[in-house]
Amino acid sequence: MALYPDELIQEICERNDIVDVIGQYVKLTRKGSSLFGLCPFHNEKTGSFSVSPDKQMYYCFGCHAGGTVLTFIREYEKYSFREAVEYLADRAGIALPTVEQSPEEKHKADLRSRLLEINKEAAKYYYFLLRNSKDQKGYEYLKRRGLSDETINGFGLGYAGISRNNLYAYLKNKGFKDEELNGAGLFHYDERKGFGDKFWNRVMFPIMDVNKHVIGFGGRVMGDGEPKYLNSPETMVFDKGRNLFGLHIAKSSRKDYLILCEGYMDVISLHQAGFDCAVASLGTAFTQGQAFLLKKYTSNVYLSYDSDDAGVNAALRALPILKSVGIQGRIIDMRPYKDPDEFIKNLGAEEYEKRIKEAKNGFLFSIEVLERQYDLTDPDGKTRFFNEVGKKLLSFEDEMERNNYIEAVAEKYMVSAESLKSKVAGFALSGIKPEEERVPIKSGINRKKKDGLVESQKLLLTWLVEEKGLYKQLKDYIAPEDFTSTLYKQVAVLLFGQLEEGSVNPGRIANQFENEEDQREIAGIFNARLENVDSRDDKIKAIKETLYKLKENRINTAEEDMETTDVACLQKLIEDKKNLEKYKDIRIYLE
Ligand code: CTP
Ligand code: MN
Repeated sequence: MALYPDELIQEICERNDIVDVIGQYVKLTRKGSSLFGLCPFHNEKTGSFSVSPDKQMYYCFGCHAGGTVLTFIREYEKYSFREAVEYLADRAGIALPTVEQSPEEKHKADLRSRLLEINKEAAKYYYFLLRNSKDQKGYEYLKRRGLSDETINGFGLGYAGISRNNLYAYLKNKGFKDEELNGAGLFHYDERKGFGDKFWNRVMFPIMDVNKHVIGFGGRVMGDGEPKYLNSPETMVFDKGRNLFGLHIAKSSRKDYLILCEGYMDVISLHQAGFDCAVASLGTAFTQGQAFLLKKYTSNVYLSYDSDDAGVNAALRALPILKSVGIQGRIIDMRPYKDPDEFIKNLGAEEYEKRIKEAKNGFLFSIEVLERQYDLTDPDGKTRFFNEVGKKLLSFEDEMERNNYIEAVAEKYMVSAESLKSKVAGFALSGIKPEEERVPIKSGINRKKKDGLVESQKLLLTWLVEEKGLYKQLKDYIAPEDFTSTLYKQVAVLLFGQLEEGSVNPGRIANQFENEEDQREIAGIFNARLENVDSRDDKIKAIKETLYKLKENRINTAEEDMETTDVACLQKLIEDKKNLEKYKDIRIYLE
């Protein structure tokens, strides 16, 4: 797809001098007609990376990376062609021809960009407060946790002060509208008191996407208090399952591996200790979307999850997800310390480096965890243990790979590889299926309930398309924010826009998502069916129940995220709960 004319791309490149651009990322020193520096694409101690102002090209004599300014931006920032062109055009102050947008595209793009602006402004505000507010509580807390100024600045850390609606007032003053602020996830709303800041009296960790846009926040109490971390909810721009904390820096790391850990502080400590390749999920369980994201950068992933039972179980759940995208994760053992942050503080970076080298293969790790459940000194316990191991070994379809693992296990537990092999073969012959490694879709808790909720949302969206006149009756009761995931919220915004205009076209909605995975999911959304709902009355009943479930979920989510000390919020919640009943009495007519 030739989006921009070649001449324009040419001009954009000419107006971005390669030495200036690369100079922003790599320290360059002149040697003859070229400039040299340390190659950002491989690990080296001598500078084999050269940039030629005459040729307007770069080349690494070590790893043979090379190209133009456009190639560099694509490779370094991991941008798509289009993103790189747009970035460079912006840098040179060249206006790109606007690509014709449909009304839906425009509405969505506008809202998205406003939400990104709000998040960016909020980050700048918190950043300012950390350094300039009268009380130095936030700054002192971060210092107490051993962070240097360089680290604090590098991650853009901030502080939400004691006041409860400073940010709201500040952003209103900047011209943001209430509807926009409402979708940003940074405020709560009360009919009597209006808007209030969600975050206050916390140190703030801005969460960025790979392109360094702030998409949300995690806020930590300074000391004890509940909840320890408060996070932005999912919004139009904050998709917790498809972003990773720290990846905007880690993606350009010179290390050829990534470290996946559990907490924001773990990532930050690791970066400060030189492991700038550390990332973490966002207060939710690791997802397949995140695995795909990692896979874009490396197949070499180390897990550095907490050493306690919860951490071990989280690691065991992450391993099959990584495997499903072709990554064989390895586990870093940090015992006797709890997490990477504590480990680094106590033993330092060199010891951590050693633990990386000693990291365990994910399969052998899962066997070791299994072993803890059996008494191997007892012949019976030992037999049962090897039965389980045998079943696990069945999951390797490739014979050679399976045999390699059989040998590794046999050696580790000092049993004969031959007898283990025949045990596995026996299982295979008797038709025992390999122990299923289910890839959990979302976080483990309340999975059943959540699945039901997803189904409800699909049904509601399908019915809004299929039942003429339903939207008019529901529009006062339902908003895109009632939907639980980013994709559903986006789809709802677009669909409601079409319904307002009276021209419904789900295909046009799907076409606005570039990602094939999204398109497939959207097709599913608009084709939901409920068994045993034949009569009109049944359907009306189902619609009311669905609406009720969505509203109830929104209240429950707010409750989970709430500060237990926040009285205003608590009152609002009680009121909302009372109001919930009214969704059962809405009158609905179907044609
Ligand atoms: N988390 C959360 N809500 C909580 C507790 C934790 O969202 N109430 C998420 C955060 O993303 C956090 C991660 O889970 O970074 C790991 O939690 P935990 O291990 O408890 O925190 P640490 O990273 O060790 O944080 P700290 O060192 O600040 O105590
Ligand atoms: Mn910690």
